Amino acid sequence: MRTIIITGGAGFIGSHVVRLFVNKYPDYKIINLDKLTYAGNLANLRDIEDRPNYKFVKMDICDFEGVLELMRAEHVDGIIHLAAESHVDRSIKDPFTFAQTNVMGTLSLLQAAKTYWEPMGWEGKRFYHISTDEVYGALEMTDPSGIEPPFTTKASSGKHHLAYGSKFFTEDLKYQPHSPYSAAKASSDHFVRAFHDTYGLPTIVTNCSNNYGPYQFPEKLIPLFINNIRHRKPLPVYGKGENVRDWLYVEDHARAIDLIFHKGVIGDTYNIGGFNEWKNIDIIKVLIGTVDRLLGRPEGADMDLITYVTDRAGHDLRYAIDSSKLQRELGWEPSLQFEEGIEKTVRWYLDNQDWMDNVTSGDYQKYYENMYSNR
Ligand code: NAD
Ligand code: TYD
Repeated sequence: MRTIIITGGAGFIGSHVVRLFVNKYPDYKIINLDKLTYAGNLANLRDIEDRPNYKFVKMDICDFEGVLELMRAEHVDGIIHLAAESHVDRSIKDPFTFAQTNVMGTLSLLQAAKTYWEPMGWEGKRFYHISTDEVYGALEMTDPSGIEPPFTTKASSGKHHLAYGSKFFTEDLKYQPHSPYSAAKASSDHFVRAFHDTYGLPTIVTNCSNNYGPYQFPEKLIPLFINNIRHRKPLPVYGKGENVRDWLYVEDHARAIDLIFHKGVIGDTYNIGGFNEWKNIDIIKVLIGTVDRLLGRPEGADMDLITYVTDRAGHDLRYAIDSSKLQRELGWEPSLQFEEGIEKTVRWYLDNQDWMDNVTSGDYQKYYENMYSNR
């Protein structure tokens, strides 16, 4: 029997992690601790919300006393920490909220875990912090036409199989964040390591590449563009669309989190990614082709929706994760080829227009407003 708090469980990745743990571990008690910001949506968890091993608590991670009280009341022995402000464009407009939640919130959680666990000893306890590859900054694009990459996984073994440079993010790389989002995440990673090195708190940090899949808030590239293509709205491509991101299907990330939470080495760091680099413009063309095909529109009918707009300030050129440590040491591999993952994802958004309408109209927030009062 374990009792685990998953923070940010009403968000995109958190909801997949909560679902996986609730389904896979009926003997665990899973507590979803979430403030329900604009990005939190309990409709993401409707299929498991009545399970006896699941509980939702509306709380801000910055609420040190509240978290400590909850840990004591529930005898919590594990924390998987995903709650964060996560959108780069928002961080450019409002960096304070990012520092508050991502830095102060993480510090508050660390201090609550230390306060509760230290007197009883660290045995069996675990604080797992979920971070991003964006903390490493941007990689050079040494070959814009793409080269055969030195690594491969199932995710990257489809039709498209390219690297756009010879350097990759490895765990020992210096942190060089550029956006307020990644600076705040980098800072939270440093605090987590400091709590391990200073007090002995049993921590693990993972840095993952861009995720895609069902339940992602439609401010992020893939769900936003699927929805816009469906409604024939312009697709705002930042700059020239040449920026490269490394994409991983969200359920593969959740499986990695499960594996690392149970088998990862305390105090260690693992990079998570599928060696699956794509230029934005190429992904966008795949999305247009897939949506048009699934909706029975003529092939390429919506290519003219592509609209080049002013580039994002400080836009990182290329992200590419080297996840060979995780593959070598814990045997993790992504399960899906990218083409399969994108097809599944587009189908999910087209089949779940109610979910999308609920989010874009803001109704999802009204629905839960009366069910949970703020602490
Ligand atoms: P998201 O924005 O979809 O969800 C964030 C969740 O955290 C929401 O449910 C929100 O209500 C909650 N939250 C925000 N502030 C809170 C607070 N102060 N107290 C309690 N809850 C709060 O984010 P996501 O894309 O699912 O990302 C989850 C985590 O994974 C983040 O830590 C992010 O940095 C990291 N990550 C994301 C990606 C990605 O591609 N999305 C990639 C790598 C790492
Ligand atoms: P995003 O999904 O915001 O993730 P991140 O910034 O964390 O990588 O963006 C993915 C890429 O798509 C990024 O290079 C920015 C670009 N982008 C656009 O070109 N237009 C858009 O409207 C959005 C949201 C993103």
